[in-house]
Amino acid sequence: MLTPADIRFSVAPMMDWTDRHCRFFHRLMTRRARLYTEMVTTGAVIHGDRARLLGFDAFEHPVAVQLGGSDPDALARSARICADFGYAEINLNCGCPSDRVQSGAFGACLMRQPALVGDCVAAMKAAVAIPVTVKCRIGVDDQEPREALWAMAEAVTRAGADALFVHARKAWLEGLSPKENRDVPPLDYPLVFDLKRDFPTIPIALNGGIATLDEAERLLAHVDGAMLGRAAYHDPGLLLGVDPHLFGDPAPLASPFEAVEAYYPYLEARLAEGTRLADMTRHMLGLFAGLPGARAFRRHLATEAVKRGAGLTVLRDAVAHVSPAALAA
Ligand SMILES: Cc1cc2nc3c(=O)[nH]c(=O)nc-3n(C[C@H](O)[C@H](O)[C@H](O)COP(=O)(O)O)c2cc1C
Repeated sequence: MLTPADIRFSVAPMMDWTDRHCRFFHRLMTRRARLYTEMVTTGAVIHGDRARLLGFDAFEHPVAVQLGGSDPDALARSARICADFGYAEINLNCGCPSDRVQSGAFGACLMRQPALVGDCVAAMKAAVAIPVTVKCRIGVDDQEPREALWAMAEAVTRAGADALFVHARKAWLEGLSPKENRDVPPLDYPLVFDLKRDFPTIPIALNGGIATLDEAERLLAHVDGAMLGRAAYHDPGLLLGVDPHLFGDPAPLASPFEAVEAYYPYLEARLAEGTRLADMTRHMLGLFAGLPGARAFRRHLATEAVKRGAGLTVLRDAVAHVSPAALAA
């Protein structure tokens, strides 16, 4: 079982964004946040290039892998493979609304099949010793959230799930793009507070629209955890406040400038292996958000890091556009 402290703060799984480079970079700024991979489908885990899809650096821990699928056997098999890779948790995606996911009948569609989700969780729990968790919406389309979400919580709790992450809005499967589905259906935080009251034994984290650590902290009066997606990605410097403000631990680094310095050895090692600089620095574009020179930093990286043979000098030159004095002010 995960404890509420384990899920007190996490960075959400985000396709194309929370890859291993991003997670390593985030981990430099917080030791306590729980980090999530991009969603990986059971088909990819079972048949794909596992080292490429699932490889990660032990420094990223605690890191959880998010699986997409709805077949209990395939999920159990995938969970075992991921556990062998060393992941700290398996998370099942019951919230993604994209067409690709709908045609595979998993992701948010699973809000309509809580019993199947329970079977999936039970199968994974039987296959691995690490925690198994679920990330879901409050409902889809015309579902009544108090019924759909409660049925989901009931099914996964009974199946032994170790935590539930709730993106506190519906997914509308007809007529909205995945991007619109992250903004248009209204958020309902009080519903998730009520869910926590009715399901006191399973750790529950709230996700969706949390913009700052202050907001996250306020929500922690009602739920066990806050999961941030876009705010953490676009303004990664926010993560420097997680350990001191939410856990009472010292921050591992004092400033975004130190975060860049701390990232250099990792960048150097990956560059030597042939990884492109831009594939790693694209996750840092928002690091200096709000400081004078932040835009020049972004622009320099966006134009120069993509060039063939781009190395650490590009990053050093980009940082030189930002004024440390403004940080001290
Ligand atoms: C680019 C992008 C990719 C995403 N990919 C996933 C995913 O693979 N699995 C998942 O459960 N949610 C995914 N999400 C949804 C986020 O995990 C999160 O639920 C959503 O962004 C709401 O949280 P936020 O308002 O803090 O960003 C994605 C979101 C974004 C912006």
